[in-house]
Amino acid sequence: MPNERPGPPGPRLADLAVRHVDRILVIERACFPAPWTRGQFEREFSIGRGTLRGAFCPETDRLDGYLIAWPVAGEVHLMNLAVHPARQRQGWGAALLDDLLGRAVQEGWAPVWLEVRPGNRAALALYASRGFIRAGRRPGYYEDTGEDALLLRWK
Ligand SMILES: CC(C)(COP(=O)(O)OP(=O)(O)OC[C@H]1O[C@@H](n2cnc3c(N)ncnc32)[C@H](O)[C@@H]1OP(=O)(O)O)[C@@H](O)C(=O)NCCC(=O)NCCS
Repeated sequence: MPNERPGPPGPRLADLAVRHVDRILVIERACFPAPWTRGQFEREFSIGRGTLRGAFCPETDRLDGYLIAWPVAGEVHLMNLAVHPARQRQGWGAALLDDLLGRAVQEGWAPVWLEVRPGNRAALALYASRGFIRAGRRPGYYEDTGEDALLLRWK
């Protein structure tokens, strides 16, 4: 679904490169209680198997959101999605997710899987709005709190 809301323009979406890792870490640390490390992000770039997309401010070109997904054996696993808190609720998360889902349709990737914390209301609302459904639970998935993850699937 394109960005059609009134207000500031939507993001410019483009592939990420390793030079973006510093900014990714700022966003990651502002968004998650157990952020990925620099090494984890750098590995994503060196392995080169993933879809790594960034959401950039069209006026300043600053990176304010990103999505990382792994296509594996015809399916996709959404590994990371974050929008800087100052940019949230402006359609950027939806733009990144729609970009991935559009690519999945194009490439014939299905289903799309992801894990989410049961208390993450913003993410759950976003995923529900795009048609993700609950497919299971992974007990004790989050090491920092011991919380279960909800497993969601699309298609
Ligand atoms: C989840 C996240 C990526 C959403 O990004 P966002 O840019 O704020 O979301 P959008 O503005 O595109 O919202 C799209 C829809 O999702 C839902 N949504 C998003 N944030 C919401 C919130 N705080 N409360 C309720 N619904 C919300 C709404 O349906 C929204 O549509 P609307 O604004 O027209 O009502 C963002 O909150 C985030 O980075 N959170 C921290 C990291 C995280 O939890 N990532 C997901 C891990 S599984």
